[in-house]
Amino acid sequence: MALTPQKHSIPLSDGNSIPLIGLGTYSNPQNTPKGTALAAVKRAIEVGYRHIDGALIYCNEDEVGQAIREKIADGTVKREDIFYCGKPGDTFYPQDENGKCAYHKSNLCATWEAMEACKDAGLAKSIGVSNFNKRQLELILNKPGLKHKPVINQVECHPYFTQPKLREYCREKNIVIVGYSPLGTNRDPSWVNLECPPMLEDKLLTSIAQKYKKTTAQVCLRFNMQRGVVVIPKSFNLDRIKDNFQVFDFSLSEEEIKAIEGLNKNIRFVVLPFWADHPEYPFHEEY
Ligand code: A2P
Repeated sequence: MALTPQKHSIPLSDGNSIPLIGLGTYSNPQNTPKGTALAAVKRAIEVGYRHIDGALIYCNEDEVGQAIREKIADGTVKREDIFYCGKPGDTFYPQDENGKCAYHKSNLCATWEAMEACKDAGLAKSIGVSNFNKRQLELILNKPGLKHKPVINQVECHPYFTQPKLREYCREKNIVIVGYSPLGTNRDPSWVNLECPPMLEDKLLTSIAQKYKKTTAQVCLRFNMQRGVVVIPKSFNLDRIKDNFQVFDFSLSEEEIKAIEGLNKNIRFVVLPFWADHPEYPFHEEY
């Protein structure tokens, strides 16, 4: 399939489709000035993005919504052209009286049933999961009375963490992988595992980028997109937002894809160790 800036969506198992590239919008709210997400999302829509990945917990969803509304109002896009991924919740990071994380008591199947109700009520067109391992996906897929299958699993995925096993399992089950941190994160030590070296400085990725006169970031994005993995690079820099979308004027060869897959280190940038004692912490299992 030839991917173009106008046509780069892939089908979901529920009949909808998802653009292979979206703008990630997570940024530490403490050091992101008000209005930054608004300007970034408007810029993204102007340069061609039709998929925005957000969440209430990113503390900027109001700005993301405002940007989309403004771009609809000025005629740049129609609402139905935008794929928006949101992630709901009520209390952020609740703690017990000792300051420890107070985990939610409901189980994943009950939560999934609430998600199904959202879809049935027309609050969401497509529903999926994030950070699920194979066991957790099976739990949902084998749930008695399952009404709607998860159509995506949003997990870390990039040349240093290519997810071969989870990707194969999801392919069998017709679940699309949305790869977060496709550029290797912002390397903020407060939540990023820095044992994994800076990906955008990788020698092979850099040499392939030079060959095509592209950036290493564009090679990372194109790599996943050609493998059918959706990418959601985060940038709030107006030039990089545009650059990251310039991934339709070159194509990696099969050999290059294989070589990049060979960079897999099986080390996550995003380990979330502070939640490792949660009964559903997903990363104790291999995949
Ligand atoms: P910024 O928002 O200043 O552009 P990921 O999507 O893997 O989490 O990576 C996001 C990080 O990568 C952010 O720190 C973002 O910073 C930076 N970034 C985004 N696009 C590029 C790019 N083309 N080259 C280098 N860094 C980038």
